[in-house]
Amino acid sequence: ARSVPPTTAGTPDPEIPDLVRAARGLPVSRTPVWFMRQAGRSLPEYRALRAGTGMLAACQDPDLVTEITLQPVRRHGVDAAILFSDIVLPLVVAGVDIDIKAGVGPVVASPVRSVADVDALPPLEPERLAFLQTAVRQLVAELGPIPLIGFAGAPFTLATYLIEGGPSKEHARTKAFMYAEPEAWSRLLDRLAVSAATFLRAQVDAGASAVQLFDSWAGVLSAVDYAERVLPHSRAVIDGLGDRDVPRIHFGVGTGELLPLIGDAGADVVGVDWRVPLDEAARRVGPARSLQGNLDPAVLLADRGTVDREVRRVVEQGRAARGHIFNLGHGVLPETDPDVLTHVVELVHELTATPAGP
Ligand code: CP3
Repeated sequence: ARSVPPTTAGTPDPEIPDLVRAARGLPVSRTPVWFMRQAGRSLPEYRALRAGTGMLAACQDPDLVTEITLQPVRRHGVDAAILFSDIVLPLVVAGVDIDIKAGVGPVVASPVRSVADVDALPPLEPERLAFLQTAVRQLVAELGPIPLIGFAGAPFTLATYLIEGGPSKEHARTKAFMYAEPEAWSRLLDRLAVSAATFLRAQVDAGASAVQLFDSWAGVLSAVDYAERVLPHSRAVIDGLGDRDVPRIHFGVGTGELLPLIGDAGADVVGVDWRVPLDEAARRVGPARSLQGNLDPAVLLADRGTVDREVRRVVEQGRAARGHIFNLGHGVLPETDPDVLTHVVELVHELTATPAGP
């Protein structure tokens, strides 16, 4: 087990939330926990509040965003809130015709298939994000010491939706466009990087304490293609934060082979799915970054003994990292019993609490 740091230099600073300290590799009072998709369909109070309101309408209503974001914090006692929004929102706000269909995901009316389509994409005017900044300010006031995580979709993952026209498995059309039209590809990802950076800055400037860049589908790429054709654009998003002093979490699914590159693209924290154990992920990412993850969300559907065993394993393997933020390896499945999520938060806290100092 990790020993209690003996010096005052190693004492957790109570003014800085555990999430931020873990992200920076500083001592924590206990391992911070939050869950991707912690707000959403696993919660009956979410389903009740969302009834009759479309997903995109809900995302643009500051009071609904505030309430939905707070629901899992109240219920589970997680160490962070994540803004209720969606990765396609910057595109929607800019005027791209996209709908989020229940049980399907984002559907794009006119998919991007040519340079002309790329050039026709409307830019995101920062002034249009006033509603988002209102939501963030309300949340920061309500949350007090609990940090709010802002987020954006990374250029590659957004490009998959724009090019395929909706969710897809292999992203074959996306890759075909990337290979066949390298200039249009790079121009598309440039534009997506600019709007993602605008979206992140709006959240941080309104008070978000950390950000996560979701490159959920980057794991379909080879390391070489990722490094040459995607990474520079993701780096541009993160660099777009300038000297804003907030930790940057960078996450994708199935990115075992890409973990060092995901770190290099710019991250204080690399998000890891359940395929690579955290001690191995720590070797791949190196000692300069923290890790987030990586309980398989399907484990939460198993019996309590299995849940506890797997939570303990993730916590133990996470000790190999510079810092560890406990999370799932991907989002909460809608059929998850919310009481199991609450239990996981309690168990991680219990397993990692450091005794009070002298
Ligand atoms: O994590 C959170 O709690 C914050 C909210 C959040 C949502 N989407 C809300 C949402 C976040 C961080 C996202 C990001 C997002 N959106 C990603 C990256 C994260 C990941 O899962 O890899 C992606 C790929 C999307 C695109 C998207 N939007 C998908 C695939 C879906 C699911 C479709 C479905 O119904 O199964 C959505 C819709 C969506 N985004 C829902 C929620 C709560 C479900 C809509 C509903 O409740 O009706």
